[in-house]
Amino acid sequence: MVLEEAAAKKRVQLLKNLPTLPGMIDKISRAVESKRFSAADIGKLISRDQVLTAKVLKLANSAFFGFSRKVGSLTQALVLLGFDVVKGLILTSSVFDLMKNKGEDLWRHSMGVASAAAIIATEVGMPDAEEASLAGLLHDLGKVVIRVHMPDDSASINELVEVEGLALREAEREVLGFNHTQVGQWLAESWKLPEQLSEPIRWHHKPEGSRAAPQMTAAVHLADCLVRGFGYGDGGDPWVPPLDRFALKQLGLNSQKLENIVAELCEKLSSANGASMGS
Ligand SMILES: [Fe+2]
Ligand SMILES: [Fe+2]
Repeated sequence: MVLEEAAAKKRVQLLKNLPTLPGMIDKISRAVESKRFSAADIGKLISRDQVLTAKVLKLANSAFFGFSRKVGSLTQALVLLGFDVVKGLILTSSVFDLMKNKGEDLWRHSMGVASAAAIIATEVGMPDAEEASLAGLLHDLGKVVIRVHMPDDSASINELVEVEGLALREAEREVLGFNHTQVGQWLAESWKLPEQLSEPIRWHHKPEGSRAAPQMTAAVHLADCLVRGFGYGDGGDPWVPPLDRFALKQLGLNSQKLENIVAELCEKLSSANGASMGS
């Protein structure tokens, strides 16, 4: 089993350059690391890909995000949001592109969690609501990879969920020996995502496991539970995961704050009439 897992990790990490991500991330990362380029230079580099640019701006300006400012260009996005957030937006749109017409429900779930995570971050006074949106958007990234790159296993997993009533991540573990949080983490590692994003991907179902970003992970955990509770989109099984006490404590939530979060999320999700897969 250990060996199999290592082999799976290797396979997933080889996906680093997904078909819709033509070396762009590496190129931009190198430009940022070299420190010789300004935000305007890097903005120009990304803008050469117009489809990608349009998608990133559409996401950045989506009503689901906690971004309070209108983002008009990629250079502005880099200045206002920072490179990590822009990189995350590029990755998200590229990864979900893989699912095109098959993954609308998971996309809606992810957008809902992005929205909820931003609301939670703001309510508990975290300084980085934008990063929380992104962590929410990316949290189930591993599910996309499993569906697209392991279609036979994915079919067996779905069958276990439907016939045996297992939670998706239990079914994943049974069929694959690991689950989508690990797959997501492997990709996050190969993309060198910061811990504020990679830890929620890895630990959103078990928030006490997060060492480097416990509050962000707790926010995404709660966001995931709430969005499932609302029945918005589809996370892959019909179950609402139990709320983890550790996460609530980590966020310092009292019942009033929780009520505010639920009310705001309710309003947002009911007014969002199905954001489509960023075409
Ligand atoms: Fe998940
Ligand atoms: Fe989820």
